[in-house]
Amino acid sequence: TTDFKGRHFLKELDFSAGEFRELVTLAAELKAAKRLGTEQQRLRGKNLVLVFEKASTRTRCAFEVAAADQGASTTCLDPAGSQMGRKESVKDTARVLGRMFDAIEYRGSAQSAVEELAEYAGVPVYNGLTDEWHPTQMLADVLTMTEHCAKPLERIAYAYLGDARNNMGNSYLITGALLGMDVRIAAPRALWPADEVVERARTLAADSGARLTLTEQVEEGVRGADFVATDVWVSMGEPAEVWDERIKLLAPYAVTAGTLAASGNPEVKFLHCLPAFHDLGTQVGQDIHERYGLESLEVTDEVFESERSLVFDEAENRMHTIKAVLVATLG
Ligand code: CP
Ligand code: NVA
Repeated sequence: TTDFKGRHFLKELDFSAGEFRELVTLAAELKAAKRLGTEQQRLRGKNLVLVFEKASTRTRCAFEVAAADQGASTTCLDPAGSQMGRKESVKDTARVLGRMFDAIEYRGSAQSAVEELAEYAGVPVYNGLTDEWHPTQMLADVLTMTEHCAKPLERIAYAYLGDARNNMGNSYLITGALLGMDVRIAAPRALWPADEVVERARTLAADSGARLTLTEQVEEGVRGADFVATDVWVSMGEPAEVWDERIKLLAPYAVTAGTLAASGNPEVKFLHCLPAFHDLGTQVGQDIHERYGLESLEVTDEVFESERSLVFDEAENRMHTIKAVLVATLG
């Protein structure tokens, strides 16, 4: 097995396919050990700092609980409560945090910021989401898929519908391409991942045997899929003005009972990294309802609450997979 000690996790492609699978396997082992009460603490005396320039529920809690389970401490910094990016450069912040902490998690907009932290910190840096990638989420998704599909990874087919030009679209395309999976992106052309991401995925697929489909047709995307995934139509940091256009472009890509039926697979499962807009239970939901008369966006409440939906397994798996990254890189 690989020695991951000291490695960064800034994007999926920091790891080889074999390494990525090893981390998923380690997460499954840690999950089982926690359930059995046999978990060994391998991070005692380690101190982690979690920097959140954008909001988070799952990622922050996953890092905190994973660290606590393993005996490590966590300190959280938010933009209001730190100097980073305002009074102090990323480069200086990296060197300060690197002197005090054993590892740094960073969530923000620019991929370049997390890369700069990694360049200067001298300790492992983990990307907790940027505008470009959401790599820890991909470990959780792959673990969830392996738990709910008996097929080997390279025979699993998943379709991602909706805004594929965001972090999740990029990450789904690249991760499946890396792991040799059957990846379908169903989205309007204007919201496909950028050309360089698609090219990179095609190069990876030539090596891994992945099948990649980018289509504007929902039916073509979901036919025969084991999993159907989506994400919010407007991501953190995007201006409110984009809602009008997104809703117009993406309405046909909402995941409904009909979308799942179009897979032709009675066992098809639904994934969403969350948070999701599937009912009127949030302020954003109410606002959208008032403006557009819609009760759900990227997924209907029916699908979200159905037996097909794995979203809370997926959320739980954020913790087990992030724990695997911590144990592997610091343990
Ligand atoms: N899926 C995810 O990253 O959730 P949070 O934004 O709550 O961390
Ligand atoms: N694409 C979403 C993912 C949230 C976990 C965003 O960046 O807001």
